[in-house]
Amino acid sequence: MLNFAFENPVKLIFGSGQLEELKNEIPQYGNKILLVYGGGSIKKSGLYDKVVNTLKEIDADVHELAGVEPNPRISTVRKGVDICKQEGIDFLLAVGGGSVIDCTKAIAAGAKYDGDAWDIVIKKAQVEAALPFGTVLTLAATGSEMNAGSVITNWETQEKYGWGSPLTFPQFSILDPENTFTVPRDQTIYGIVDMMSHVLETYFHQGTNTHLQDRMCESVLTTVMETAPKLLDDLESYEHRETILYSGTIALNGMLSMGIRGDWATHNLEHAVSAVYDIPHAGGLAILFPNWMRHTLNENPGRVKQLAVRVFGVDPEGKTDEETALEGINKLSEFWSSLGAPSRLADYDIDDSKVEVMADKAMANGEFGNFKKLNRDDVLAIYRASL
Ligand code: NZQ
Ligand code: ZN
Repeated sequence: MLNFAFENPVKLIFGSGQLEELKNEIPQYGNKILLVYGGGSIKKSGLYDKVVNTLKEIDADVHELAGVEPNPRISTVRKGVDICKQEGIDFLLAVGGGSVIDCTKAIAAGAKYDGDAWDIVIKKAQVEAALPFGTVLTLAATGSEMNAGSVITNWETQEKYGWGSPLTFPQFSILDPENTFTVPRDQTIYGIVDMMSHVLETYFHQGTNTHLQDRMCESVLTTVMETAPKLLDDLESYEHRETILYSGTIALNGMLSMGIRGDWATHNLEHAVSAVYDIPHAGGLAILFPNWMRHTLNENPGRVKQLAVRVFGVDPEGKTDEETALEGINKLSEFWSSLGAPSRLADYDIDDSKVEVMADKAMANGEFGNFKKLNRDDVLAIYRASL
């Protein structure tokens, strides 16, 4: 294990009817609230009305930023920053999925910064202060509700980067499984792939003596895999929505990665794809992850074999580590396909015409990945194998 310090200050408020807690949480931060949300799902589901009525009960002065895009854009962040600065906003409330929350994090930091918020995303400026914010999560996927990370796209330059600061943890996050009932089938599948990918990014490391971390990761993976098909059969099952919602949070709130430096190359590969093609994040991951695994397998076949045996039930008897590992990778691919996730870039009409452009973007900060350092040739090989 690596040395580590763990701190996660997010107050997680989980369960049915917990929206009421807004009344206890928000007043301590002030009265001028910026409500941030996406393209309208919360209006359709009725959640918007519930939130606004709750805010009325505490006499909040509510301003709104609507229309945050999936793969949230810096142009929208800038709009939010302007509102915060002009109106003297005290507190931000994100109501939505990872995109709304990530956008809110960038607004929170941008509102306390004199320059352009993009400086923060590209790490040209350090976050020295941020407005406080809370979240009401509507989609189980990113873990953004209980971490400090944010991913923002600059559509003009076709760049998409992750950034984060100890100052951009939510103050609280309200997770009511019922608020995820309306998540459509495809987004539910993407969420499942995303949370599994977060566990896999953590699992692929070169550390030693990580027995508990390994078992915890394997538990999250097996729980999600057992639950996913049942949830897809019954999208309004409280029980299965609850399991998946909690899994998504645990997958990326730091609990699994103590003492570990996970790989995270596949996320970088994917961000370069969705920066150019604006595809759903986890659609890209479902395509790229198995190909990244095949490409890097020889770095540590024993580790991939462990996953294959413990999570995918591969029988290692009479097989080399590589053979067992490859069988596990194929089972992962088959599982995601069985849910309905894409398996080739062609599923999004992506051909080889921009492979070099994507590789340039993925390599913007040099070689990357902690399980295996990927160079440009590796990146091109993985993209080409994914076409
Ligand atoms: O915009 P609205 O109308 O709200 O619709 C959204 C959107 O179209 C819809 N949706 C959300 N909740 C719903 C719902 N529809 C019906 N009922 C509900 N309850 O779902 C669509 C996708 O939403 P989005 O927020 O984009 O999805 P997700 O949570 O998967 O977030 C994806 C973004 O997060 C980034 C990704 O790169 C991508 O930009 N990531 C953030 C991470 C983090 N902060 O830690 C880590 C991740 O790896 C990821 O990179
Ligand atoms: Zn992800």
